[in-house]
Formats: sequence, structure tokens, C-alpha cells
Amino acid sequence: MGNDTVTVTNNATGKSAEFPLLKGTHGPDVADISTLYQKLGIFTYDPGFKSTGSCKSAITFIDGEEGILLYRGYPIEQLAEQSSYPEVCYLLYYGELPNKKQYADFDKIMNHHSMVNESLRTFYQGFHHNAHPMAIMVGVVGALSAFYHDSLEIGDLRHQEISAHRLIAKMPTIAAACYKHSVGQPMVYPNNKMGYAANFLNMMFSVPADDYEVNPVHARALDLLFTLHADHEQNASTSTVRLAGSSEANPFAAVSAGIGALWGPAHGGANEAVIRMLEEIGDAKNIDKFIARAKDKNDTFRLMGFGHRVYKNYDPRARIIAKMAKEMLGTTSGTDPLLEISLKLEEIALKDEYFIGRKLYPNVDFYSGIIYKAMGIPTNMFTVLFSIARTIGWITQWHEMINDPQRSIGRPRQLYTGAAKRDYVPINARG
Ligand code: ACO
Repeated sequence: MGNDTVTVTNNATGKSAEFPLLKGTHGPDVADISTLYQKLGIFTYDPGFKSTGSCKSAITFIDGEEGILLYRGYPIEQLAEQSSYPEVCYLLYYGELPNKKQYADFDKIMNHHSMVNESLRTFYQGFHHNAHPMAIMVGVVGALSAFYHDSLEIGDLRHQEISAHRLIAKMPTIAAACYKHSVGQPMVYPNNKMGYAANFLNMMFSVPADDYEVNPVHARALDLLFTLHADHEQNASTSTVRLAGSSEANPFAAVSAGIGALWGPAHGGANEAVIRMLEEIGDAKNIDKFIARAKDKNDTFRLMGFGHRVYKNYDPRARIIAKMAKEMLGTTSGTDPLLEISLKLEEIALKDEYFIGRKLYPNVDFYSGIIYKAMGIPTNMFTVLFSIARTIGWITQWHEMINDPQRSIGRPRQLYTGAAKRDYVPINARG
């Protein structure tokens, strides 16, 4: 074989084998070790997938060292500045930016699917009023599969597309209804005259008894936040969607599994955890105490919103969001004390050897919660908003996975460390 291979030698047996080195458009080469077990009789061990590429993908690229994020090749900074979330949805799913007609058609389709089946509304009544909205999301999104038996043929391209449209269009309606249930207000129907983000804010905050006007600054900020959260290659929730979907489960079930994975504080739940942490810090004078706790190996406390598995330079989304947080907080009355604490915390952490040495920088969620809070979004809805935004990423990745000719059910192996083979002992003979 040529140079584009890696050789693996098992020193225990003296056996060697060569494996192809695959080259992507950007990023490090990838050793194709799919025949490792067949050739050398060994598995690889990589808990947390720190060195493992789980698939080929043409959707999103991240360079964690350089702080680069591209959707279909377009830098996130350009999309944040010049595009909009619906256009980004089109770009991610179809691979190219739409022309005017394609965009108008897409917009029409999204509007067509924005309502949910009336019977779905009754599902909410089964949840206690103080249920976490992410718990409701997992259930309700999974339950969508019960409504669309006509389009769940996962190998059918048109069915795939309709399911994608339904998911993207219905997520804001489903999410806003979670909030309305928690505050005991009637669910608000979508208004197709409004843009995607404005419509969501209207469904969250308007009530039948009064007038409500969506703040355009908030709608623009939300659209931007949705854009920044739209996709992030093979993160925990996306990998969950791919793995669940690889068993040929329907896309609603797969996305519901992804929502469950997103909920955790090490992933999408971090935006909620950041606000709770800032509230716990309470005053800038307490920051040193919390920094010391974050550095203490005997304390499980971590600085929420700091660190990222991939970004070891700076999260480019955090840079865009930080700017917006400062601009937006200027439009609300007074300065938010949490913003002040967060700015101080960021300043102190970025000078601290512990954080510098470990390349721990603020991530996208360090600021997103502060912006959501300024819009009046309750803390327990933050991760729900993340799930609305990430739905396009999940369904696009599912779509790519399901149409991949190399697709097979995701089935990792393990290093077994349990008891060695032994014989069953009848209960009366046990000591
Ligand atoms: N505060 C304090 N120390 C930290 C933090 C933190 N937020 N994050 C990592 N570290 C330390 C670890 O203790 C470890 O130290 P050690 O080498 O002395 O043992 C080192 O930095 C490396 O940490 P790992 O956990 O190995 O890094 P990993 O890549 O597995 O974790 C993660 C990344 C989960 C994001 C982590 O940084 C974290 O828990 N951050 C806080 C939660 C958070 O903000 N999550 C949102 C991620 S962004 C998103 O999902 C949209």
C-alpha cells in the first residue's frame, strides 16, 4: 500500500496490518480501522470518542484548535451576520443556499406545517404543571410518530423530507405549549404571518385576553441564537439521534432520543446551569470562592459554560453571542447583575493558570442564558430553546445517515472487565 495508510502492530502477537488513511475536505486524516478486528483480532478503546470519527459527514465542520465552525462550508460569522435561521435550515438540509423561489417555497411549507394535531394538545394535560419542560418535550416529540403513519417509510426520500419539515415547523409550537402548560395559560396557535423566531415569542408570551407585540430586537436575537445552535457535527445529542436512527427507528423517535441527550448539564443543559450558577454566586465578591471550588479536585463543582470537548481555542459562537449579550442588555432597563457577574467571572477565569493550561474558554452557553433571561424566558425553558434550534441539525444528520450506502446499525463493542466465566450455584448451596 502507499503512504496514505497507517500500520498497526500488535506487539503481543507480532502481527501487523495496514489500514487506509482517509482524507476529508478539512481536518485531520482519519484511519479507517473498520477491519481491525478482522485483521488483528482486537478492538479499539476510546471512551467518550476522543479520537473516533463515527461517520463521514458533509454537513458541518469544526476546527477546535482554530475556533472555526462551518455549516456546509459557510463560516458561522457570515451566516450570523447575513443569513437567518430559516435560510440556515434550508442550507443545512438541502446543502446549498436557496434562491428566492426556493426560499419562498420553503417558507410556505414551513407555515403549512406549523400547527400540531388538536389531539396532541391533550397530551400536555397528562403532565403535572411543574414538570420540567424538557421532560414534556421528550414525550411530545416522540409522540409525533403516532400521528404520521403515512410518512414514516424511512427509506423514502419524500417521507424523509416531510418528516423534516414537520419537525422544524412544529418544534416552536410544541415548545411554547410546554411553557403555557406550566403557567396554566391556553396554548397559542402559530401565526404564519410572523417570522420563525417572532412566532415562537408570540406563542410564548401572548394571551387571548390582551394585546402583545413581539419586540423586534428580541426576535432578531433569538433568530441569531437559533442560527448559532443549528448544528454542531457529531456532539452527544446528534450522535444519539444517529445511533437511535441507525436501528431504523422513525425520525421522531430518534429526535426525541436526541432531546433526552441534550438535556444533560454537560451538553445543552449547560445554559440553564450557567444561570443557576450565576445566581448562586450572587455577587462579584464571591467569584474567587467559586473559582477555587472549580479548581478543587475534591469538589464536583465545575464552572458551567466553560470548556468544550472540541474547542480548545475559543468557541466562535461564544464570541458572537458575547457581543450580542452586551448590545442587547443595553436595550433593557439597567444593567443585569448576572451579566456583570458573568463578565467578571470570564475576566478572572481567562487570566487563571488552571483555565489557561486546560484551554477552558467560555462556550456558547455561557452567554445564551443571559440573553434568554433578558427576553423574559424562564430558566427551565433555556434547553428547550436549544432543542428547537438543534432540530434542523438532528434531522439533517439523520437524513445523511439514513441515506449513507455504508450505513449499518450502530453497535460499539467493549472491554469486558466483569467476572470471569463461572458456573451457576443453586441458592441452597450458596454460603
Ligand atoms: N470547570 C472546571 N474545570 C473544568 C471544566 C469546568 N467547566 N471543564 C473541564 N475542566 C477540567 C477537568 O476537571 C479536567 O481537569 P484535569 O485535566 O485536571 O483532570 C480538564 O479540565 C479536562 O476536562 P474534561 O472533562 O476531560 O474535558 P471534556 O472535553 O471531557 O469535557 C465539557 C468538556 C463536558 C464541556 C466540560 O468542559 C464541562 O463539563 N464544562 C461545563 C459544562 C458546560 O458548559 N457544557 C456545555 C458544553 S457546550 C454545549 O454542549 C453546547
